[in-house]
Amino acid sequence: MDYRSLARLARAAKKHSYSPYSRFRVGAALLAKDGNVFTGCNVEDSSLGLTVCAERTALLKAVSEGVRKFVAIAVASDEDGFTFPCGACRQVLLDIAGDIDVVLTAPGGKMQVFKTSELLPFPFGADNLTRKKS
Ligand code: THU
Repeated sequence: MDYRSLARLARAAKKHSYSPYSRFRVGAALLAKDGNVFTGCNVEDSSLGLTVCAERTALLKAVSEGVRKFVAIAVASDEDGFTFPCGACRQVLLDIAGDIDVVLTAPGGKMQVFKTSELLPFPFGADNLTRKKS
């Protein structure tokens, strides 16, 4: 699937956003290597800190369906410009999905692509846990 179509799916996923507290709707569409797409939206709750972002919703849906190999994730919000994934999502995306393309979208069809490794340089990862301790 091309990134323009993936961006469209991210925009469409926004309509399910449950964001009564921030009123900031986000949608994501995660493209797996096998061609399947998992969409997600942000889901807030009244204790606020338990909010799950659209990117992690999409990733957790995929992993819980047994899918672990990915190509790209598109992100859409109602902002005029691009919405970058938050720090927590950068960590989880790089750690679990790997060095995939992050397709940022903006109204009017603008897109910009980054690698997860660009968005999170010097990451903590699985290697840290297996390295010898002094
Ligand atoms: N949010 C996302 O879902 N993804 C992002 O990339 C940035 C922020 C959500 C979390 C919260 O529901 C709302 O946007 C405002 O922070």
